[in-house]
Amino acid sequence: MSNYLQRAQKVFDRINQLAAISEQATGITRTFGTPEFLQGSALVSGWMHDAGLQTRMDNIGNVRGRLLSKNPGAKTFVIASHIDTVINAGRFDGPLGVILGLDLLEQLIINKTELPFHIELIAFSDEEGVRFHTTYLGSKVVAGTFDNSFLDRTDKTGTTLKQVVQSLGSNIDLLTADAIPVNELLGYFEVHIEQGPVLWQSKIPVAVVTAIAGQKRIEITLTGMTGHAGTVPMAIRNDALTCAAEFVLAAEKLGKENKDRLVVTVGKLDIDGSASNVIPGKVLCSLDVRSPDERYLDIAYQQLKDSCTKICSERKIQLNWNLVQQTKPVVCDSGLNVLLKQAINKSNIELIELVSGAGHDAVPISAVAPVSMLFVRCFEGISHNPLENAELADVAAAIEVSDRFLEELIKKHL
Ligand code: HGY
Ligand code: MN
Ligand code: MN
Repeated sequence: MSNYLQRAQKVFDRINQLAAISEQATGITRTFGTPEFLQGSALVSGWMHDAGLQTRMDNIGNVRGRLLSKNPGAKTFVIASHIDTVINAGRFDGPLGVILGLDLLEQLIINKTELPFHIELIAFSDEEGVRFHTTYLGSKVVAGTFDNSFLDRTDKTGTTLKQVVQSLGSNIDLLTADAIPVNELLGYFEVHIEQGPVLWQSKIPVAVVTAIAGQKRIEITLTGMTGHAGTVPMAIRNDALTCAAEFVLAAEKLGKENKDRLVVTVGKLDIDGSASNVIPGKVLCSLDVRSPDERYLDIAYQQLKDSCTKICSERKIQLNWNLVQQTKPVVCDSGLNVLLKQAINKSNIELIELVSGAGHDAVPISAVAPVSMLFVRCFEGISHNPLENAELADVAAAIEVSDRFLEELIKKHL
């Protein structure tokens, strides 16, 4: 078995160890600040420490391991991804980038590589935003763009982000100090499964990410009038659920009509006090809108808002539309991508370049540093699903390309 395959096997073994830690008996769920989240963080922290990295958990729960250059004044290059998950997640979305990153640093240590810059490996604490519906909490702290108003956001039990951060033993006043100063940041590299079908279908193990789509996340509350399912005539109902249903289909229609530049998803639909014999009076639904084209994203967003407003007024339903998060499309750094392409070429792999429809921690970091991402082929492009999977040979190829990428980067900065 080649060295890369052996290293890939160790990456798989660690991914499986981390995947065994979950808030659910079946499926993988580790959301920000839960005991299982902390268990997973402790496991990753132990690996980093055992590898000889300067390891710590910062005040937003990121697990951070530094491999130092002999030059104390050197800049820092970040290799990262996230270890929080969606509900009933796959094993690879996030952990692959952290655990493969750890392997890269372990190899640098074995090779006693002279580093012209520090390398900081980061396991971000909340990329998915499942618990508080604000994504990138961990990477925004590192980027210095964390907004303290997030601390007042509550989860579905009414617990605030502030309470959870403090439950980690953190000091919210030190969140600012956890940022890497912009002038010390050299760049960023993230390895992530593609979460799409292109590499699977083309049977090519890796791809260079050229850009990351912009996204807007909205929380919609529709308020009508609850009533008795048996006595309120159809003509005089203020049914919040049928209103939501009409909007959900209208949103899907807009997405399908613009499928080459837009994706629209309603992933959450909660009926307040739902019961089979009660007309739904209040519905909360999420809306996730994405496009690689910033201008068009704004146009589509306004069209969706206007459509929702019109449907609600026709149905006499009160609308509360709350834009909770938005990120512009991100262009990955051309300089770093040249090195990534050289590494792919030296690994005798056909070059594929892709735009990411999924968001990643590279997005907030791109505000303060050049970013690069390497996609890894995954089973039928499936993700955010327990069927998510990757093949040993593709992860081995990703390790080889990443090794070579770091070699090029080190050579460039010696
Ligand atoms: O939603 C996303 O794009 C990512 O998985 N957080
Ligand atoms: Mn991810
Ligand atoms: Mn994800």
